[in-house]
Amino acid sequence: MRCLVLGGAGMLGRAVVAEARSRGWAALGLSHAQADLGCRDSLLGWAERFRPEVVVNCAAYTKVDAAETDRERAFAVNGAGVANAAALAGRAGARLVQVSTDYVFDGEAREPYREDAPTAPLSVYGESKLEGERRALAQERSLVVRTSWLFGPRGHNFVATMVGLIEAGRPLRVVTDQVGCPTSTPSLARALLDLAARGASGVVNYQDREPVSWYAFAVEIARLWSGAVEVIPVTSAEFPRPARRPAYSVLDVGRFETIAGRRVEPWTNGLVETLAWLRKERNR
Ligand SMILES: NC(=O)c1ccc[n+]([C@@H]2O[C@H](COP(=O)([O-])OP(=O)(O)OC[C@H]3O[C@@H](n4cnc5c(N)ncnc54)[C@H](OP(=O)(O)O)[C@@H]3O)[C@@H](O)[C@H]2O)c1
Repeated sequence: MRCLVLGGAGMLGRAVVAEARSRGWAALGLSHAQADLGCRDSLLGWAERFRPEVVVNCAAYTKVDAAETDRERAFAVNGAGVANAAALAGRAGARLVQVSTDYVFDGEAREPYREDAPTAPLSVYGESKLEGERRALAQERSLVVRTSWLFGPRGHNFVATMVGLIEAGRPLRVVTDQVGCPTSTPSLARALLDLAARGASGVVNYQDREPVSWYAFAVEIARLWSGAVEVIPVTSAEFPRPARRPAYSVLDVGRFETIAGRRVEPWTNGLVETLAWLRKERNR
């Protein structure tokens, strides 16, 4: 399989390139500088240059809080930019795999969101990602994979932030009233390529299991990293941020499990791997 990864220098993009190569696929990851979602003509050139069979779009405007005051840019990248990625896939005769988010939901549910649950984003970022889903699905055979709470080696993420605070001897104050499923980028990369290899299309949810609060996740990070760190529980109201986040971000992964023929992985696997990677980096 020939796999082109847009956003190939990002946290998830790197994991997808690594996973594709580990399967013996021809994989090319393109950085923002090499392939800007906003430049349709230069993107289209990759159809002939690489002849992909699958295009995985990991590129996005991911600054959730900044998007509240930068709506135009968020939509230019996460909406119109996805249409350009779809055009590239269309020209190459490839399937587009678009990565989306739990932020398309309002988090008011009390049971896991199925793929067909009504969407109601709380933030500009969530709205722009929903627009990206529409643009992707306008192209026949496209696959949209919704996921959440990504962490992994390389890149800015919650696990790296918590470890940084622990190492600096700073207190960990973490919210208890947002529940979701942390998902490691290597695990999501495997899921994306399993789905692509099986020719899946439409919307599919993927998260690692089991649901936890950010607080409980931080407690586990602290325990595995150093054992003796206090984590202070706070509420979202005590920790205001420009963009609202869904309180409940659990997705129903039944469709993924049926297509892939396997259960989703526990997030603890990815956490152990990521902490081992961070430890190695710190000792270099
Ligand atoms: N992180 C999460 O918790 C999370 C949760 C759910 C879904 N997602 C989705 O997962 C995907 C991957 O996220 P990530 O965490 O890997 O994010 P990331 O590390 O921020 O990677 C995104 C990449 O996109 C690039 N990019 C930004 N604007 C671009 C443009 N106009 N053209 C081409 N590339 C551009 C960025 O490059 P520069 O940095 O050089 O601009 C960056 O390398 C995104 O679709 C995101 O919405 C993430």
